Amino acid sequence: MIRIKVPATSANIGVGFDCMGLAVSLYSTITFEPSSDKLEIVGCPDEFKNEDNLVYQAFVKCCNFLNEPVPNVKITIDNTIPVARGLGSSAICIVAGLKGANTWFNGPLANDEILDLATQMEGHPDNVSPAIYGNLGVSFVDEDQNVQTVHFNVSPDLHFIAMIPNYKVSTEEARSILPNEMSYSDAIYQMSHLGALAKALELGDMKVIHSAIKDKMHEPYRATLIPDYKQAKEICKNSNGTMYISGSGSTMMAITADGMAADKIISDATKAFPDWEIHHLSVDKKG
Ligand code: HSE
Repeated sequence: MIRIKVPATSANIGVGFDCMGLAVSLYSTITFEPSSDKLEIVGCPDEFKNEDNLVYQAFVKCCNFLNEPVPNVKITIDNTIPVARGLGSSAICIVAGLKGANTWFNGPLANDEILDLATQMEGHPDNVSPAIYGNLGVSFVDEDQNVQTVHFNVSPDLHFIAMIPNYKVSTEEARSILPNEMSYSDAIYQMSHLGALAKALELGDMKVIHSAIKDKMHEPYRATLIPDYKQAKEICKNSNGTMYISGSGSTMMAITADGMAADKIISDATKAFPDWEIHHLSVDKKG
């Protein structure tokens, strides 16, 4: 039996829209084994137990890429990550399916090839890169359509608190509300803030993180899709933490370098939003 464990990922981190993502300590495990049926899927709602299942689609894509016949397979999904909450649930399915097939055929593909295939399926590399490599990743698609990715360690002083609403945000909708263009001055703003943010996350420099994370490309538009955005932000601010929308939402991620502040954010968020999942996360370093 092949067992693939993939971390949840938190993309964008404010100013890193579609290029920066962080692997965090929430995991899904997906197993692959021979089956007498063409396809058997266990561990997900019935509507996903068919050939359109994203794990299976990725499994097939990898088999085709390797010029191997698609084997009969039983896929068992053990998922703890809520879907459509901005925590990379589709990246998990894609990475697991590709790695499952790659392992099935004795691992001919290196991680950078898996990343290229995963990015083709996902459309952007910010979730799939840290799902494969762990840590904080910054990625871009080069002129040959290959994905280039670099990784940063994140300071162990930083605490990440995922506040996961009990409602979804559709990534499609959250992308459709964004403008098609931005000004030169806003582009300079984003580039300068992103470079500083990556280093500040490595150093654990909360002073720089506070200001460098403030985005102009997507977060102001997407905040309108999350009814509790302002209240969650206020909770973080009251403890001198900072906050960004994880991926396309609805999850909001608090960051602080102070353990007591992290506890206070968790307790305030739990009181304000008793039906939400609140997780105190660390950075996954392995993917
Ligand atoms: N970068 C993507 C977005 C992540 O914000 O739309 C969601 O898949």
